[in-house]
Amino acid sequence: MKKQQVMTILRPVQDPFIHKRFVETDAIKSVEIDEDNGKLTINIALSKLNQPENDQLNKELTNKLMQAGASEVTIHFTKLPEEQLKKYPQYQVMMSPLLNGEADTTFLAIASGKGGVGKSTVTANLAVNLARQGKRVGIIDADIYGFSIPHMMGVTKKPTLQGNRIIPVEVHGVKVMSMDFFVEGNDPVIWRGPRLGKMLNSFFIEVEWGDLDYLLLDLPPGTGDMALNVHTTLPSSKEIIVTTPHETAAHVASRAGKMALNTQHDIVGVIENMSYFESQLTHEREYIFGQGGGKWLAKELNAPLLAEIPLGQPQNAQSGGSIYAEDEVIGMIYRQMAEAVIHETRR
Ligand SMILES: Nc1ncnc2c1ncn2[C@@H]1O[C@H](COP(=O)(O)OP(=O)(O)OP(=O)(O)O)[C@@H](O)[C@H]1O
Ligand SMILES: [Mg+2]
Repeated sequence: MKKQQVMTILRPVQDPFIHKRFVETDAIKSVEIDEDNGKLTINIALSKLNQPENDQLNKELTNKLMQAGASEVTIHFTKLPEEQLKKYPQYQVMMSPLLNGEADTTFLAIASGKGGVGKSTVTANLAVNLARQGKRVGIIDADIYGFSIPHMMGVTKKPTLQGNRIIPVEVHGVKVMSMDFFVEGNDPVIWRGPRLGKMLNSFFIEVEWGDLDYLLLDLPPGTGDMALNVHTTLPSSKEIIVTTPHETAAHVASRAGKMALNTQHDIVGVIENMSYFESQLTHEREYIFGQGGGKWLAKELNAPLLAEIPLGQPQNAQSGGSIYAEDEVIGMIYRQMAEAVIHETRR
């Protein structure tokens, strides 16, 4: 093999943690080729050492290089200098108190296939009910364009600054961070592409979350960039998939579920929302959006069905937005859901 060939194979490979290509981080420190026997010895600098991802990377690279003609491959990993790493936002995120491995926080991303199935309603109410169970809870409204969490939870305040740290707004016992706080009035967000990723990053780097048991992320619908972004930013996030009972919604939701599984994220369970309408007069149930979507999806994803939530607005909707009280029927279903989530996540 020629050095040039080796470089061509290695350059586009990504650092497994900060997701920058080797050519960008100048990761390939040395390549030695034994002309006589084709043995390769390579030094590569990574953002983190002694991680399972590194063994995986070692295997993959060795395979690739053997296929390209090397007779034997030895790869040594060293660490990129801290000074250089500090410049990468992804590294700052990785090193933020929530993600550097010191905090014992369970991340729960709330996803769906289709829009409008009730992700944000579920996120807000699940968070409030986890807090009602005594857990320390935060929400990141990761739906940067379609943010709705602050309005649903009846937030009227803005976050405050302490030095250069952002203190999240607290409502119903839950700390909340949303794009809503950074736009004037109800103007649409006109940012595109990379700036959105930066916003999500700054929710981790610049916000003073304190100690949390759970951090919930309300995702935009579908399997787009932002959902993928969350998956790569939070390597250990768990996922809750929301669907309606309708066959199409469940079918589309299974793609969101598979995206989670493809990125090695556990699925905590499935929530079926808008399951039926129950008449207050006769207590008859009508299955307005069909039946069976939640059960089918749970089976498809091999995950428990955590709740079936009927149609109905909170009784005191005018004061508290979309949060159901503890003693109303849907409020009690949310309480059971929170208990199921605590059980499933062993907290
Ligand atoms: N169980 C329910 N009964 C009645 N209305 C509900 C129920 N769940 C959600 N809704 C209403 O349905 C609408 C959509 O819900 P929500 O905004 O939570 O969905 P979403 O999946 O987050 O939507 P998007 O994809 O736009 O982010 C809202 O007006 C909400 O109040
Ligand atoms: Mg939403």
